[in-house]
Amino acid sequence: MTRIFCIANQKGGVGKTTTTVNLAAGLARIGQRVLVVDLDPQGNATMGSGVDKRALPLSVYDVLLGSASVAEARQRSEKVGYDVLGANRELAGAEVELVELEQRDKRLKTALAAVADDYDFVLIDCPPSLSLLTLNGLCSAHGVVVPMQCEYFALEGLSDLVNTIKQVHANLNADLQIIGLLRVMFDPRITLQQQVSAQLEGHFGDKVFKAVIPRNVRLAEAPSYGQAGVVFDPSSKGAQAYLAFAREMVERVKALA
Ligand SMILES: Nc1ncnc2c1ncn2[C@@H]1O[C@H](COP(=O)(O)OP(=O)(O)OP(=O)(O)O)[C@@H](O)[C@H]1O
Ligand SMILES: [Mg+2]
Repeated sequence: MTRIFCIANQKGGVGKTTTTVNLAAGLARIGQRVLVVDLDPQGNATMGSGVDKRALPLSVYDVLLGSASVAEARQRSEKVGYDVLGANRELAGAEVELVELEQRDKRLKTALAAVADDYDFVLIDCPPSLSLLTLNGLCSAHGVVVPMQCEYFALEGLSDLVNTIKQVHANLNADLQIIGLLRVMFDPRITLQQQVSAQLEGHFGDKVFKAVIPRNVRLAEAPSYGQAGVVFDPSSKGAQAYLAFAREMVERVKALA
């Protein structure tokens, strides 16, 4: 059974894309069939998966507007071992064009249904907003993975996201649930981060993943080589943490079934 997950947080620069590509590569390394859907006009997940966003014959934009299928628009990235439904700046226009269309929040869901059997996991990298693009992601998914930094304002931003997820669950997609919160760019030497991390555990219990992703420069360097950190330097601390996270996801998904 295919599991479709959004990697979402409306806050910018919190590690959504890094989490998407490294989880995807980690899952691929343990034999899972994975599709990454880039729903961000920045196209960072596309580039970070080794696919050139400037040279996409077809992209997620064409899929959302109904002029191409996922099967036509996806690309195989041998570098990272998974498929990519890429995005580039063209996608920024989709937001406006979608408003006119029927079922504007379910376009991605419908398109993904046609390839569901091809994958164990579909991971959707959301943009830093609660826009119609993100809504298409949330309407397609079984669950949401929320990467977050353990900083002072992190919990505040989380309540907006949790409310949006509740609303989508109530009105548009009864399958949707929070799969878990992932602590990223973690530095255990910083007392505040330890405190926020403990607060998260207290408040969200086992919704907080056991895996913790440290701040690690190899993860930040990997995208400039068009690679996930997990592939670029598998022995680095960051890669090891994402590999542990991938294994934890597989276990958590078994528990969902
Ligand atoms: N664990 C980490 N250690 C060090 N650097 C990291 C780590 N995770 C992410 N980064 C870096 O932090 C920056 C933001 O990460 P990323 O692009 O994954 O965030 P994002 O939430 O997808 O951003 P946006 O909201 O713009 O889409 C990037 O430069 C990335 O390389
Ligand atoms: Mg991103």
